[in-house]
Amino acid sequence: MCAAAVPVSPTSRFTLRHGAVAAGDFADDVRRGLTASRKSLPPRWFYDELGSSLFDAICFLPEYYVMRAEAEVLHAHASEICDAFGAQVRLVELGSGAARKTRILLDVLTERQRELEYVPVDVDASMLERSARELLADYPHLRITAVRADFASPSSSLAMLGPHRGRNVVLFLGSTIGNLDPDAAIAMLRDLRSALSRGDALLLGADLRKPRNVLEPAYDDPLGVTAAFNKNLLVRMNRELNADFALDRFTHRAFYNEPLGRIEMHLVSTQPQRVHLAALDLSVDFAEAETIHTESSYKHDESTLAALAQSSGFTIAHLWTDARAWFADALFVAS
Ligand code: SAH
Ligand code: TRP
Repeated sequence: MCAAAVPVSPTSRFTLRHGAVAAGDFADDVRRGLTASRKSLPPRWFYDELGSSLFDAICFLPEYYVMRAEAEVLHAHASEICDAFGAQVRLVELGSGAARKTRILLDVLTERQRELEYVPVDVDASMLERSARELLADYPHLRITAVRADFASPSSSLAMLGPHRGRNVVLFLGSTIGNLDPDAAIAMLRDLRSALSRGDALLLGADLRKPRNVLEPAYDDPLGVTAAFNKNLLVRMNRELNADFALDRFTHRAFYNEPLGRIEMHLVSTQPQRVHLAALDLSVDFAEAETIHTESSYKHDESTLAALAQSSGFTIAHLWTDARAWFADALFVAS
């Protein structure tokens, strides 16, 4: 390894690795999800090039408080958070997306450390390339090793990296943990823990429980951007699997399932209909009002976060919230 004395060109500071996300996975997931008695699709398929751009737009909606609440937490506590990370960190980020909030931490870390390796992990390669280009232009001493992989098994992404002398610090922001069902969230955190050393840390962003009249509009905005984001799954199946979903025969629905502590998003069939997916040689019947469950977004409190940490081998060293206590970033330290 050679430490560059002067900023080198952005291309030589960027590497893109491909983890295990097979092209056939989408077809398999769609077949499984649409032939089940309760139809569902895994949310990772939202994020093709258009889907990632629509999610980025969601972050600017007045109703989607999540982005601003977490940015407030990070701005208010950036130096304390980075103190807690310790010296000589390598920064890994799961589900990095546009990596806008990451910049709040990079501003502090790049002041403290002459060189910093940043490892964004995401399913969307186009977003990894776009965000890396923008970061490299603004942070001349940053090196980026991007990994296109599923964050469900972070240990395989970490195994693709070279050795590192300091601490691994992992960011999992934006309440993306909430998009995993509780068992999957624990499995994912355990897998991550298995690849970390004692003292390594995870900064976990979690949306907190709050009244329905705040939660629901954040996932069903009057401009219709979230509806477009959800229906883009139909567009993607039409394009990639030669399906014939009629977009005007499905509507977006989001509601707070309070007993389960989660927002649920569905695509609702407005009429009885049959859809054909030519690439799968599959026809799927929908009854009127039948839905495809496309995403959940679990909302947390201190006790659910403590339970997550405890069942996966971490201890919570700090928990920061915004002024309204709408969002929390918790520092999970590998114990
Ligand atoms: N961290 C950003 C983006 C959150 S959106 C923020 O806080 O605003 C969720 C991100 O996770 C998207 O960039 C999406 O492409 C990625 N993603 C979703 N499911 C994934 C999966 N299973 N594996 C890897 N990345 C995934
Ligand atoms: N992690 C984000 C959340 O749960 C993801 C998200 C926000 C999302 N809005 C969405 C996913 C709308 C699907 C549709 O808040």
